[in-house]
Amino acid sequence: MLRLILLSLALLSASVHAEEWRGHGGPVRTLDVSKDGWEIVSGGFDGASIVWNAANGAAKNVLRFHAGSVDAVAFLPNGDFLTGGEDGIVALWQPGSKSPVMHWKLHEARVASLAISPDGKRFASGSWDGLVKIVASPGVITELQGHQAPVNAVKFLADGTLVSGGQDGSLRFWRDGQQTAMLSMPSGITALAILPDQTIAIGTGDGRVRLVSDGRIKAEIATGDFPVIALAATRDGKTLAAAQIRGAVSLIDVPSIKIRTTLVGPGLPVWSLVAIDNATLLTGGGDRLIRRWNLATGEPVGGVPLLKSNDELAAFADDPGAKLYRACIACHTLKRSDGPRAGPTLEGIFGRKIGTDTDYVYSDALKGKDLVWTPETVSKLFEVGPAHYLPGTKMPEQTIGSAQDREALMQFLAKATK
Ligand code: HEC
Repeated sequence: MLRLILLSLALLSASVHAEEWRGHGGPVRTLDVSKDGWEIVSGGFDGASIVWNAANGAAKNVLRFHAGSVDAVAFLPNGDFLTGGEDGIVALWQPGSKSPVMHWKLHEARVASLAISPDGKRFASGSWDGLVKIVASPGVITELQGHQAPVNAVKFLADGTLVSGGQDGSLRFWRDGQQTAMLSMPSGITALAILPDQTIAIGTGDGRVRLVSDGRIKAEIATGDFPVIALAATRDGKTLAAAQIRGAVSLIDVPSIKIRTTLVGPGLPVWSLVAIDNATLLTGGGDRLIRRWNLATGEPVGGVPLLKSNDELAAFADDPGAKLYRACIACHTLKRSDGPRAGPTLEGIFGRKIGTDTDYVYSDALKGKDLVWTPETVSKLFEVGPAHYLPGTKMPEQTIGSAQDREALMQFLAKATK
């Protein structure tokens, strides 16, 4: 009886304190918070976007639609949201739905950034194809040409002016479909954030953050040697968080332009940032988790969630095939319950028809093909290489030269994916 009580107490306290934020099978590439602060939407390298309860990190809806990674997300004022993918597509979602209400193929390369106009009536997309597009209603699309390189970030100012930042180092201002001004930075622009007083914070490839207002650089601060990959401002504009592609997350005190603190703890590198309010920051990490931080102290909030033990292979310690499987583990799981990563789960792979796992969005190269995976066909896949066996596949080229190694890997897969 006592044990039961203790157990239920433990469960109770776990449910009160445990932060969840678990669900992505790859780095968390992008984050946004709804205007009311209740919901978070994330996009990942695993091709999923997830709607989360901002209070406790419970996943409310896992959405799969894009072929490839989800690189941009943005909430509309009414709680609907957009996702933009590596496939050049922008999709419009309602929070509870399982498929998009609408979608547009806007770009020939990944959609790196999305922004919603202040009145909620237009959205802008910036893409690695070098173009910016504005969608005013389903049929009214304006193309903005000017950038000489991939566009990494787009943001609207309060007066409806769109700003875009590109790998070419140019910050461009657009109104009514025309470029109205341009400013050049000494390094490629990787991220933008707008402060409440309409100062534009610019993250660049040289690891710096610059503040621009009235068309001039007013202040600048070095955050480290690596490119800034994400920037977020608190709603009061007093704190800016800047994440570096291979380094720390710096919290910048905006009034004094000084680094107040850097976040320490697991979960680095960070790929994405969003401030829920003036006190709380969320980071999306390379370790597939989202973490919550106290902006005043730089400490993690609600305990530090640790990644589920990484010993998927522990049960197969002496198996030579398990060693070979290490080449696959970054992108595949052995159990469906661990979800898809960059590639589909391999649970039940032998006997499965190609391109048919329902938790995963395949490229056209695998869809509708007449092939069943067996030890023979998977072995062939890595004898000749995915690019030859399945032309056009997203799976990166890799071969296993030795027939003995292929055989050992197939024996391992037969045991581990049953
Ligand atoms: C860097 C990521 C990556 C690595 C590493 C990787 N794969 Fe994949 N794999 C993918 C992706 C992405 C797909 C889906 C391809 C598509 O849709 O074009 C895939 C598809 C597959 C499929 C077809 C699955 C199906 O449902 O039709 C098999 C089988 C497979 N991989 C096996 C392996 C094995 C075995 C290894 C290790 C030797 C491996 N992969 C390594 C990314 C990867």
